[in-house]
Amino acid sequence: MNAVVAGACEQVERLGGRALGIHAGFAGLAGRDAEPITALQARDHMHEPGTWLGTSRWPQLREPEGRLACRNAIGALALSGLLVIGGDGSTNGARALADAVPVAVVPATIDRDLDGTDLTIGTDSAIGYAMDAVDRLRVTGRALPGRAFVLQTLGAPNGFLADAVATAAGIDDVLVPERPFDLDAIGRRLVELSVSGSAIVVMSEAVGDAVRIAEDLASRTGLRVHPTILGHAQRAATPSALDRALGQAAGRAAVRALAAGESSFIGLTPDGAVAPVPLIPAATPSL
Ligand code: F6P
Repeated sequence: MNAVVAGACEQVERLGGRALGIHAGFAGLAGRDAEPITALQARDHMHEPGTWLGTSRWPQLREPEGRLACRNAIGALALSGLLVIGGDGSTNGARALADAVPVAVVPATIDRDLDGTDLTIGTDSAIGYAMDAVDRLRVTGRALPGRAFVLQTLGAPNGFLADAVATAAGIDDVLVPERPFDLDAIGRRLVELSVSGSAIVVMSEAVGDAVRIAEDLASRTGLRVHPTILGHAQRAATPSALDRALGQAAGRAAVRALAAGESSFIGLTPDGAVAPVPLIPAATPSL
């Protein structure tokens, strides 16, 4: 997300404007918690996960009072455009404000829960973080043959992230809510693979708990099965090169759209292209 901020600041400066960084998302907007920021400052944060500006999950945006506080802040801060970086909830929040000011949304989430974009900022980094864990489990597995491992990823409410990790890591056994799985068959494969130390199952948090699945597989196979839960650390992976490059391009595209007075959703493609599409105001926003 810091790369998006950096790209946006760069484009604002190119256009001769001034960027305000809003602290802590919509909650900060409502509280008018903003300060001028520059591309130079923003670039200094591009290596950091998350965002130096802070974020919030702010359910008050569902309520008329919350939206009114944001609208009033947009006026008080004299904003000519608002860039929102986030997932499903943020996009709905952005739509709810699009009648007050041009709004651009850059999709940034590790959950595949947004239409209109092939990629979302942060996903590549989160996959890379899990790949690193898989690589280390393989090394451990080779050192301790006869063991099996269950790696649990974030990514609720669906199995997209776990699937992406398993595909990239060349792992066949992946537990996701979208497909049925047969723990007996998986157990038989783990017994075979445990000889070489590559007995690894990837599972989405959406199907349950790796501790319980590991216990279940252990009792079916007689192997020692160890759970690894990536948990909330996976939300804070070091930004990958793709996320940094795409993030900056998306930030620039968002500001170009705002400068044209348009409210847009910035769709992202794997080849690095950005494709702004109109952000239609929703009749009933929901987060
Ligand atoms: O929505 C992003 C995400 O990282 C999910 O993948 C994860 O389930 C969730 O946030 C974790 O946050 P919380 O603990 O608030 O549910």
